[in-house]
Amino acid sequence: MIENLTDKLPEILAHFGIQGSLGEVFEGPLITDVQFKLSEGSKFSYVEKLIKDIARELGVSGIRVSQIANSTYISFEIPQPKAQTVPFGPITQTEEFISSSYALPICVGVNMHGKPVMKDLSKMPHLLVAGTTGSGKSVGLNSFILSLINKKTPEELQFVLIDPKRIEFSMYNNQKYMLQPVITDMSEANACLRWLCTEMNERYTKFEKNMVRNIGEYHAKGKPMSYIVCVIDEFADLMMFDKTVEKQVQMLAQKSRAAGIHLLIATQRPSVDVITGTVKANLPTRLSYKVSSPADSMTILNTAGAEDLLGRGDSLLLEENGTLTRILGTYVSDEDIMNTLEAFRCKTTPKSYDKEVTAYSEQSPAKETSAASKEKPKKGFWSRIGDFWDRLGVRVQKRIINFLITCGMAVFGYKTAKKSSTSTSSTKKLVRKSVVKALTKKKR
Ligand SMILES: Nc1ncnc2c1ncn2[C@@H]1O[C@H](COP(=O)(O)OP(=O)(O)O)[C@@H](O)[C@H]1O
Ligand SMILES: [Mg+2]
Repeated sequence: MIENLTDKLPEILAHFGIQGSLGEVFEGPLITDVQFKLSEGSKFSYVEKLIKDIARELGVSGIRVSQIANSTYISFEIPQPKAQTVPFGPITQTEEFISSSYALPICVGVNMHGKPVMKDLSKMPHLLVAGTTGSGKSVGLNSFILSLINKKTPEELQFVLIDPKRIEFSMYNNQKYMLQPVITDMSEANACLRWLCTEMNERYTKFEKNMVRNIGEYHAKGKPMSYIVCVIDEFADLMMFDKTVEKQVQMLAQKSRAAGIHLLIATQRPSVDVITGTVKANLPTRLSYKVSSPADSMTILNTAGAEDLLGRGDSLLLEENGTLTRILGTYVSDEDIMNTLEAFRCKTTPKSYDKEVTAYSEQSPAKETSAASKEKPKKGFWSRIGDFWDRLGVRVQKRIINFLITCGMAVFGYKTAKKSSTSTSSTKKLVRKSVVKALTKKKR
């Protein structure tokens, strides 16, 4: 394969008028990485445009070309005829995994040369994962959870797992890392997210009392506090059931980093109705498995490319600083999960916070109306009017209020005109202004 490529690629590039010299060639588990230095004056964008034709002449599909950071070389990522699976187990024995000393170390997968890529979830500070069904999201989430479990004790780290599909995380029940049993009931998910917001605020109060700014400094004072990682598989399903969860997720994404609460959110559809702009802005680190269209790739990575990935864990990681790295996810089997969890099994899942969570879910209107059914909670007439009013936006709200006040004034003016003539137009304006201000204050 390598000899073929090293001979053929420069030849084919020359057909298209692309001159340059061949650099190093690495054979990885998923692709062969052929590095190439373009001759002076050649444009990378020209190669990018021709990549489909180059692939056709090479007789392979799905070639990706990228610029190597801080290098004069570009890289042709040519799929292997037979992709290898990288199992998660052996990764935990590698130097990179063992020596990583991050606060929340995660093995995102292996790079194109087969080396483990370790990242710190606490710095990310949250991770948004997207990809079509079957692209490897759930396997990826499991590998992240197992990475954390391998590196952290139950005292240092607790999980909240939300699983609308009900099958992905069931194995994690009854073990010491769980803050509470895996959540499969969507109304309970809402309650739990609200509880997490409260927990976050309580943590900030503790920080204030101890005059520290974050969990790291709190630990440095010798006080214990566990990190909490909240994993949501199929966020779109959760949003479809109850749109109000967005508020909680937004609040957590914005503020929970310093409190040691981190989110891992996976979604099949990265579109705006699922991940709104405000939430996305607070989730700068994103991992995209194969998506169905360049538009989806744009939505998640701000650039096309994820639609050409090969599936089965093949992914692109967008980091906070804007760098894009191709990564192959490690494969986690059910046995891997069972073996890792065996040591931490307990008879029932500890419910240290369960009381509070249940208390919240009892207050939750969603719980009352849909304990058994999966229908959306029904809303009263006035709350629907309230929602409608909130959706209108400040400008429309102002116009409506202005119109109503003008009508009111007209009637009032007509009645008082007979008694006195003090109701001048300037006082009318003043009254109108203050009423508009009071009614639209909430939005600003
Ligand atoms: N990293 C990987 N290596 C090899 N095969 C994988 C990998 N990730 C996923 N797969 C394959 O793809 C299938 C679907 O993965 P899954 O994570 O359930 O997809 P999703 O959650 O995105 O729908 C898995 O059953 C497995 O066979
Ligand atoms: Mg899945």
